[in-house]
Amino acid sequence: MTETITNVLQQQLDKRYGPDAPVAGDAANPTLEVLLRHRTARNYLPATVSETELQLIIAAAQSASTSANFQFTSVVVIDDPEVRTRLSELAGGQRLVLDASVFLVWIADWSRNIELARANGHTIEATSYLDSALSSIIDVTLSAQNAAIAAESLGYGITFVGALRNNIDAVIDLLHLPEWTFPVYGMAIGLPDPTDPADIKPRYGQNVVVHRNTYTPPTEAAVTDYLTRINTYYREQELPEDWVKNRLAGRISTKESLHGRQHIRTTFHNQGFDLK
Ligand SMILES: Cc1cc2nc3c(=O)[nH]c(=O)nc-3n(C[C@H](O)[C@H](O)[C@H](O)COP(=O)(O)O)c2cc1C
Repeated sequence: MTETITNVLQQQLDKRYGPDAPVAGDAANPTLEVLLRHRTARNYLPATVSETELQLIIAAAQSASTSANFQFTSVVVIDDPEVRTRLSELAGGQRLVLDASVFLVWIADWSRNIELARANGHTIEATSYLDSALSSIIDVTLSAQNAAIAAESLGYGITFVGALRNNIDAVIDLLHLPEWTFPVYGMAIGLPDPTDPADIKPRYGQNVVVHRNTYTPPTEAAVTDYLTRINTYYREQELPEDWVKNRLAGRISTKESLHGRQHIRTTFHNQGFDLK
């Protein structure tokens, strides 16, 4: 492996983990470089993702593992400017929904398999259970992440847009989503603006997230190490730096911080999912 890939990957690892980063050495390769390069890109230059590139991004999505080969993923490509504008509003006015070259809405989709089973005279009792809904959402997430990596490998940047679930019923209406489907999130894809200071964001150390054989809670020192690194990142980005107060607590302290998503169980029921 060339020295360059090893060096680039090591810099990425250092940004993720700080001084205790794993050492890439000879294990470095271009795939790892693309994976480790990820940062959410929210500012885009006016460049177009070609139809061929979009097809390859979707092919990567469809190549992910899929529970029982059920292929639960559907994706709605939003190229009508009026639909984009409405989706941007529904996602809390996020400008990136408008600015991205491509905007996708990823759907957990049981509808075609249920139709196929029913058309062939089979019952669908198992679909009433929570695990069935969960399986379809897991599938979508594997597909969407493959799409994200494919787009990033082509030099584009992406943003997942979970905020679409703040107004999920309106999204379902707008996109004419049938029974047995559920929009999981949107995804913006575009050419990242190189002047955007957002960088590779630190993650918890592996001493926090990795357990051997049985689960061991992390040490306070390991968690504090992460808080120091993530707060330094935000300070360098000139953003409010107390991660626990400004980000974690802001998202979990009250049900209102779910911005409408606290009612999502009802939407599941309306779409046919019993979640027993
Ligand atoms: C399911 C999901 C939903 C997200 N929704 C939004 C969103 O609505 N708007 C946004 O700007 N970023 C969104 N993000 C991006 C996260 O904020 C981002 O991934 C996280 O802060 C880590 O930063 P990084 O991706 O740059 O490493 C979402 C990410 C995920 C995985």
